[in-house]
Amino acid sequence: MDKTKIYIIGASGHGKVIASAIISAGFTPAGFFDDNSKIHGTTFFGIPVLGGQKEFATLANPQAVIGIGDGKIRQKIIRRYTGGAWMSIVHSSAWINTSATIEQGSVVFAGAVIQPDVTIHQHCIINTGATIDHDCTIYDFAHVCPGVNLAGNVTIGKGAWIGIGSQVIQGVSIGEGSIIGAGATVINDIPANVVAVGTPARVIKRMETGDRRRETGDRTRRKGRSLKSVIRGWPGKERRTEKQSFLLPASFLPFFVSLYFQILKKVQHAKHKILPLARIRGRRT
Ligand SMILES: CC(C)(COP(=O)(O)OP(=O)(O)OC[C@H]1O[C@@H](n2cnc3c(N)ncnc32)[C@H](O)[C@@H]1OP(=O)(O)O)[C@@H](O)C(=O)NCCC(=O)NCCS
Repeated sequence: MDKTKIYIIGASGHGKVIASAIISAGFTPAGFFDDNSKIHGTTFFGIPVLGGQKEFATLANPQAVIGIGDGKIRQKIIRRYTGGAWMSIVHSSAWINTSATIEQGSVVFAGAVIQPDVTIHQHCIINTGATIDHDCTIYDFAHVCPGVNLAGNVTIGKGAWIGIGSQVIQGVSIGEGSIIGAGATVINDIPANVVAVGTPARVIKRMETGDRRRETGDRTRRKGRSLKSVIRGWPGKERRTEKQSFLLPASFLPFFVSLYFQILKKVQHAKHKILPLARIRGRRT
């Protein structure tokens, strides 16, 4: 395998950190691919931007890694390509026990420590300075943010996201797709598809499909009600069931019926007004 030709999909901050890990290991990233056509033909972090996903698809058996922090997007990209190889990238300053397994597409950044018998499955991110103690299992597409400490025998579910600086005590499982808030201390199992924050970490939100607020840190996406109002049970958009969504417009039905009759009355009244005028005009002509 020619490790000198590694492409990065996503010319982003995260992509830059991956590039620096590749460089630390003594290789030169061969180029970025990014769908932002404005940067095609330029350089990013001193590395050429060779095109978008369309151009990437034309490469024969490329060796690549995805430089996008959002696990859902990583999953979508992976599904699009067959052939080639997804590389696992480990920064030269990370310490990894020889009994640990790091599967394809996963990245381990500077200063991370991975202890014996840890398994990092595919396309995970073990971010700067995170520590993963013995016998932990991190499932596909999970993201362990900078400075997280996982004690022994912790399980992180597929696509889960463990916020910056959080701690997880031994033996705890974090469910698939869940988000742990920055600085949390997790002392009990966390179910799938929830947001949990604080010390000790408590669930503050359950996510419905497609309602996953991701780790981008993009505060502009945080529109709508605060989680506090969700806890109080106000039925916001994201908590409405299908039945409730139907009942809401249905409750306006009497209003629309009365509006219809009012308009009808007005039209008939107007007709009476117009008819005499027409008759007057008729007489004149
Ligand atoms: C947990 C998180 C995803 C929630 O974001 P959100 O859904 O937009 O929630 P909001 O900011 O609306 O906050 C809702 C409530 O939860 C509280 N809250 C949010 N994050 C919290 C955290 N990490 N710890 C404690 N409380 C938190 C807020 O104070 C707020 O409380 P209030 O309603 O009493 O005012 C986000 O705050 C977070 O911690 N992100 C981690 C970022 C990170 O690790 N980045 C690293 C990238 S590599």
